[in-house]
Amino acid sequence: MLKNMVSRWFEERFDVQAVKEPLEYQLRKPLPRNIGWFHTFGSMSLFLFVSQVLTGILLLIYYRPTEGEAFESVKFIMTQPYAGWLFRQVHAWGANLMILMVTIHMMRTYVTGSYKKPRELTWLIGVGLFMMTLVFGFTGYLLPWNQLAYWATTVGTEIAGAVPGIGEFAKTLMRGGVNVGGETLSRFFVLHVIVLPWALFFLIGFHIFLVRFQEMSTLDAVGEEKKTKPEDGIPFFPDHLLKEGVVFFVLMGVLITLSILAPFELGEKANPLSTPVGIKPEWYFMPMYHALKYFPKVFGVLLLGMAPLFLFIWPFVDRGRNRHPLKRPVSMTLGIITFVVVIFLGTLGCLSESKQNFFGKVYEFDIYGVPHQVTEQKL
Ligand code: HEM
Repeated sequence: MLKNMVSRWFEERFDVQAVKEPLEYQLRKPLPRNIGWFHTFGSMSLFLFVSQVLTGILLLIYYRPTEGEAFESVKFIMTQPYAGWLFRQVHAWGANLMILMVTIHMMRTYVTGSYKKPRELTWLIGVGLFMMTLVFGFTGYLLPWNQLAYWATTVGTEIAGAVPGIGEFAKTLMRGGVNVGGETLSRFFVLHVIVLPWALFFLIGFHIFLVRFQEMSTLDAVGEEKKTKPEDGIPFFPDHLLKEGVVFFVLMGVLITLSILAPFELGEKANPLSTPVGIKPEWYFMPMYHALKYFPKVFGVLLLGMAPLFLFIWPFVDRGRNRHPLKRPVSMTLGIITFVVVIFLGTLGCLSESKQNFFGKVYEFDIYGVPHQVTEQKL
């Protein structure tokens, strides 16, 4: 009754059919049969983005982006307002999970050769989204203005400063001065709450528009893909949406459980005069950070700077027609080697400059992550 009244109200004023038909077509549009659970990671990245925006808005109510107030305002959020601590934890864990989801989604599209013609642009925008998600993490990390954040940002911006030619300029632009300080906080804040969310919003919109417009890829070779007929495919609604719903609830469960059981500590307020020992970046920058230890600074930064470039040009380098992973031995071998090297470097990075106990023996890991057993005398 009420529904009819509302529809009539709109129908008398707007050409509702002109909008309704394309929307219904999108909902009914069949997806290729090979679309399954692995094809839910893109939507989960989207869900985490939405969750970040919503929890971010709530945090903004009390957060103050100044050198003198930032730390105290986060402390206030964690102790005073109703469920403030939970929103902060969901936001912090959500950032980590979003980076993880986007990375897994990128790996899925790599394995299924989805970057090949005609979806090169979808991949290119995806690489942009991946980089922006990392910058999101980097800028957000500084906002609580604690010791770890302050010094990780100092090291991070120092690395950018090593780029020949533009490095010094980029470093000063990021810091807003010679050292990390209140100016840096303002700049990171503006990037984190205005520039990046809106840029990501429009880019994600365009990315998904392309996916819907060009249809999801099958494992058929380039040029052999056919338009999916309703009788051959699976409907987006309800079949695929139901799968996404299941993954969504699992992810939400993981997000909330981690937020409650493994909360991020706030630590101590940033002190530019006291450098803590063993400053390390977040896990997603760890492979890069550790790799830099093996090369002279400038050479290392240049070499690692090639990685995004490599991702951007990849669809134009791998021009083979096959999409099936088993029919692409070269790109799959390259992908697996990259994956193993990244995990290996990340693990070494985490272990470096720490003491660990393995099977009752204590090992000291040096700056390169090489273990040295600690003798009883030293203990
Ligand atoms: C915020 C980040 C991102 C969001 C929200 C997002 C969202 C999505 C969604 C919803 C889909 C369709 C479902 C699926 O395949 O899972 C998709 C497809 C796709 N995405 Fe992303 N994506 C993101 C990042 C990326 C990245 C980093 C890449 C690669 C560098 C990428 C490359 C692709 C490609 C090539 C497709 C087409 C897949 C196919 O046709 O099989 N995306 N994306």
